[in-house]
Amino acid sequence: MRIFSGIQPTGDPHIGNYSGGFRQYARTQEQGEAFFCIVDLHAITVDYDPSELRENTLDIAAMLFATGLDPERSTVFVQSHVAAHAEAAWLLGAMTPYGQLGRMTQFKEKGALQTLVSSALFTYPVLMAGDILLYQTDIVPIGDDQRQHLELCRDIATRFNARFGETFTVPEGVYPEAGARIMDLQEPTKKMSKSFGTEQGKVLMLDDPDAIRRKIKRAVADSGRDVRHDPESKPGISNLIELMTVATDDTIEQVEARFDGHGYGTFKEAVGESLVELLAPIQARYRKLRSDPAELARLLALGAEKARESSAPTLSAMYERMGFATL
Ligand code: TYM
Repeated sequence: MRIFSGIQPTGDPHIGNYSGGFRQYARTQEQGEAFFCIVDLHAITVDYDPSELRENTLDIAAMLFATGLDPERSTVFVQSHVAAHAEAAWLLGAMTPYGQLGRMTQFKEKGALQTLVSSALFTYPVLMAGDILLYQTDIVPIGDDQRQHLELCRDIATRFNARFGETFTVPEGVYPEAGARIMDLQEPTKKMSKSFGTEQGKVLMLDDPDAIRRKIKRAVADSGRDVRHDPESKPGISNLIELMTVATDDTIEQVEARFDGHGYGTFKEAVGESLVELLAPIQARYRKLRSDPAELARLLALGAEKARESSAPTLSAMYERMGFATL
């Protein structure tokens, strides 16, 4: 089985990225041949600072290893190191309806925040489809916010296969049972996001223990005192319950049972402590890995080589089936 996922080197990763991304990557790598891509080409689709891109790329690489990816087992690489990604995006653009791209929620939301709405932001999901399809991917571990992009990827693969002959595996998305959409702590009806919301609304992977405790303590809860999961009427407390499942690996029911009758104050304290316990060892590993950029570069070079090898046959097949005069 082939596994593929990607993460952008923009902003500081947060506990939502851990829930939908990092922790799922570490788990799924056990299931087959896994590829995890730091998608720097995606990062330039919105306003960004070139002097930060390189550092952010190494930050994410270190975080991927710190959260459990094993470089012996998984291929961890940088998107721009493998030219096939940009090429595949161009070819697949020919199979992607303009109208469907315009309906992408992320395009609308992110576009609204930009002074320059780039055409790269518009075609971003095509690049993402190429990322996935180049590796004949069976499963894609992601959070709920990538669901629409994954559906588009499946549509593109199906359309391409029908038009040019079986070329791509049509991938399935894999979403966590709880925590597929971690919400902003201050505005629990909006997702926790690198690009929106306030500092107080997100627990960052690198927040110190006091910041974590403080943010959870001040998280917007709902009226009442029952620790019960009901996202419709109690989005704040439901989000904290999901964060507790992320931190402890307990189910929603187990968390509810454990805190039945305890009230919000006690519960919040416990969530804060559990997150501190989850993140402390990750942060320690991260600091060690991040302090050795030469070693990170070595691992990424190995990853790039493996990724080039694994993607090349699919890219050649695409050119060939599409009728290009191959040499
Ligand atoms: P990105 O970098 O925004 O996020 C990385 C991963 O974190 C998940 N995530 C969340 N999960 C739960 N709750 C949240 N609040 C939350 N916020 C983010 C995302 O769903 C994602 O899994 N377009 C992708 C990157 C990408 C990609 C790919 C992913 C490019 N090519 C190919 C999979 C396959 C993105 O911007 O993720």
